[in-house]
Amino acid sequence: MPKIATSAPGKLMLMGEHAVVYGHPCIVTAVDHRMQVSVETLPDPVLILDAKDLNLVGYQKNLAELTLGQVPKAARFVEWTVKNMLEKYSILGGFKISTQADFSSNFGFGSSSAVTVCVAKALSEIFNLNLDNKELFEICYKTVLEVQGKASGFDLAAAIWGGTILFKNKGEIVEKIEVPDFDLVVGWTGKKYETVKVLNEVNQLAQKYPKIINQTYDQIGFLVQEVVQICKNPSINTLQKIGDYINFNQAQLNMLQVSCLELDIIIQSARNVGAFGAKLSGAGRGDCAIALVDINHKNQVSKAIRDVGFEVIEVKIGAEGVKVLN
Ligand code: PMV
Repeated sequence: MPKIATSAPGKLMLMGEHAVVYGHPCIVTAVDHRMQVSVETLPDPVLILDAKDLNLVGYQKNLAELTLGQVPKAARFVEWTVKNMLEKYSILGGFKISTQADFSSNFGFGSSSAVTVCVAKALSEIFNLNLDNKELFEICYKTVLEVQGKASGFDLAAAIWGGTILFKNKGEIVEKIEVPDFDLVVGWTGKKYETVKVLNEVNQLAQKYPKIINQTYDQIGFLVQEVVQICKNPSINTLQKIGDYINFNQAQLNMLQVSCLELDIIIQSARNVGAFGAKLSGAGRGDCAIALVDINHKNQVSKAIRDVGFEVIEVKIGAEGVKVLN
């Protein structure tokens, strides 16, 4: 029975979260914490799933019943991806799928997107569909929208293309960006807040104050575009400029009320000891904050975050996109 293993990177949002859901651009980078998935075909029309990190082992479902009934959270993205691939590409089979991430799903590194991309890529490989990145994105984006309801798809683009990317409008624009040499220090709040919940809460704020929130989205989009220009025309103080824009972006995220005490403490401690800029990354209200640093400040920024009681996650940015492992 053919067996294929794939791997896709997690991500960190550098700038543009929330506004990107409403058509504005964002900048996302793939990180060297990866998801691995193996897919083996089976003679019977069933899906067997092991997602040990999520405490799901030996989960089984007939292919005809995929997505029907109560689907455990840990199986949702895989189940929907398999269903959509079977339907769209008229493929037949049974599948044993195992997933394993080398990062916690609580970090907000995009484990759901990475697993979706890995499963779609593995099925494309097994059935010689030769899906290109755009086709892969389309089927994965449809899947994520069906499971989650609302999403921009930026994390799928990072998992598929890798590198550091300018992303806009449901994948209409996906462009690799050459960024200057910098490091990110990542502080983890230890807290998880559901993305969909934050999106709904921001949406409620937007219903109440449409002008203010729409202007905030416009300004976030503007900051992103400015940073793209700064990266295209580097100068000696490029990092300081990008850091300032990252701080401006955090101020806009405060306007959307998506920061929280833990994020604010991490951000302030990083800025106090020489980070060029710091902000939350992702939906907010938990997950991680990122600090833009050069090599001279990396250790002291990491120490400052640990000193105020938070875990620092080591990352390398601009990681390779989805790949087949065997
Ligand atoms: O919390 P995350 O890592 O899923 O990031 C969410 C980013 C949002 O812009 C708020 C939503 C999205 O899909 O772009």
